[in-house]
Parts: sequence; C-alpha cells; structure tokens
Amino acid sequence: MERGLELHHIGVRFGGLTALDDVSLRVPPNRVVGVIGPNGAGKTTLFNVICGFVAPETGSLTLDGRPLRPRPHRLTRLGIARTLQGTGLFAGLSVLENVMTGASHTARAGFVPALLGLPASDRDERRLRQHALDLLDGLGIAAHAEAAPTTLPFAVRQRVALARALAARPRLLLLDEPAGGLGTDDIAELAELIRQLPRRDDDPCAVLLVEHHMDLVMAVCDELVVLDFGRVIAAGTPDEVRDDPAVTDAYLGATVEEVTP
Ligand SMILES: Nc1ncnc2c1ncn2[C@@H]1O[C@H](COP(=O)(O)OP(=O)(O)OP(=O)(O)O)[C@@H](O)[C@H]1O
Ligand SMILES: [Mg+2]
Repeated sequence: MERGLELHHIGVRFGGLTALDDVSLRVPPNRVVGVIGPNGAGKTTLFNVICGFVAPETGSLTLDGRPLRPRPHRLTRLGIARTLQGTGLFAGLSVLENVMTGASHTARAGFVPALLGLPASDRDERRLRQHALDLLDGLGIAAHAEAAPTTLPFAVRQRVALARALAARPRLLLLDEPAGGLGTDDIAELAELIRQLPRRDDDPCAVLLVEHHMDLVMAVCDELVVLDFGRVIAAGTPDEVRDDPAVTDAYLGATVEEVTP
C-alpha cells in the first residue's frame, strides 16, 4: 500500500530551545500538504529534518512504511526533490542547462560529463533536453530556455528552480516558502502551478509546502498542519483549519509578540 512520507513523533532541540515537539504528519501520494505557523514555529526545522540537514533527537520518518534516514545528497534517489530558498540557480548555465542538471542522476551517461566536454551518450542528452524543454513549457517559460538566469525576473527564476526540481521526476516535492519575494499576481499563478503537480499525466507528485503565506497555502493545499512553538496545534482541510480558534490565537499571538519582544 502506498503510504507516502510519514513523520512520527519528531522532536528537535537546539540547546535549551525546543524547535519541534512530538510532531507527526503524513504526506500521502499525490496530495498537497501545507505546513504553516507563525515566525519561529519550527517550519524550516521540519523542512530540514525531511531533507536530512537536521537529525531529529526523537521520533522517526518512514517512506511508504519503510524507515527513512534522509541525507541531502541521497534525496533525489529516494524520489524526493526540493527547491532551495532563494533559487540557487547556476549563473554560468542557461535556463535549459539548469533544468537539465536536476535530472543528472537519472541519465546513464550523465549530463555533468557532457558539460565538462567529456563523451556522453547523444541519445541520453537529447532525452534530457527534451524533458527539460517540456517542463519549461509546462511552466510557461519555454521562451526563456536559452537565457541566462541572471537576466530574468525573480518570478521566472523561481519557476526555473521548480522545473529543475521536477526534472528529477520526484514523487514528493518539498517547497520552502516558494511565495517569498513574489507579488500577488505571481503568487496566484504559482498556486495554480502547484495545484496541478499531483494531477499531471506524466510524473504526478505529492507536495509538502512550508509557507508563511496563508493565502497560497489555503489556495493549494488538500491538508494543512499548523505549528506553533514546535507543536502541531491544528491539522485538517483548509476550511477546518481556517476556523480553528487555536490557529487564530497563534497568529494573533505572534503579532503581539513582534510588537513587544
Ligand atoms: N540552528 C539553530 N540553532 C538554534 N536555534 C535554532 C536553529 N534553527 C532554528 N532555531 C530556533 O528554532 C525555532 C524554530 O525555528 P524555525 O526556523 O524552524 O521556525 P520557522 O517556523 O521556520 O520561522 P520563520 O517563519 O521565521 O521562518 C526558533 O525559535 C529558532 O530561533
Ligand atoms: Mg522558516
């Protein structure tokens, strides 16, 4: 049975500070799950646990019921891809080449040898290139394929980063604050793109979205998990969570705290 990614009673402490406390959640196959919460709630820490950047002190992770010990460099082999905060694109490569690097682990001969001018299978490279172009097309940015990322607006670079993550054909995509730095229109378009990811004919994938931006999360997620001070204070559909007094309190509480530190 397909169970997807599960976190079981995860606890993380930094010195005396409890960043995550008994956090359990599941990202089922082909669903979009959002993690929200006020500043310092533990969202990025949770993201880092799943990526393998932070080892939990207590609890465990499973992928389809099997124990998962994430390591950042092994993620794509497990079928998990992530976008980096900022966009993390290679300035010296074109948009298309950036996207192709996302799939390098799937190519038999390898795209990296090709970049270095070493012999590689033409067929592999043509296949990678076509897949990368298809992804750019699907995200509405095929016209920028040959451009240098530095010449493009931030919203386009973000889509390039998304295409690069998708090039690995993940079954789970992790997104950390993808709406950061985007305007309202760009956020609405991003929401539409994310919503389509589990519904694509080719390579549909689940999404775990860690995001401060309530509107985006409410618009795209099938399920939400709300963190506050490292604990899950609410979980459910966007409608259920929106009306939960604990959630309103947590967000209002954070505002008051910012005013009086
Ligand atoms: N490497 C670290 N060392 C010490 N404390 C940390 C570290 N990383 C995070 N923290 C603390 O852990 C808590 C949770 O932080 P985290 O960054 O996960 O929150 P967040 O929900 O992502 O917040 P934001 O919305 O501001 O991004 C905070 O109190 C933070 O100060
Ligand atoms: Mg954060």
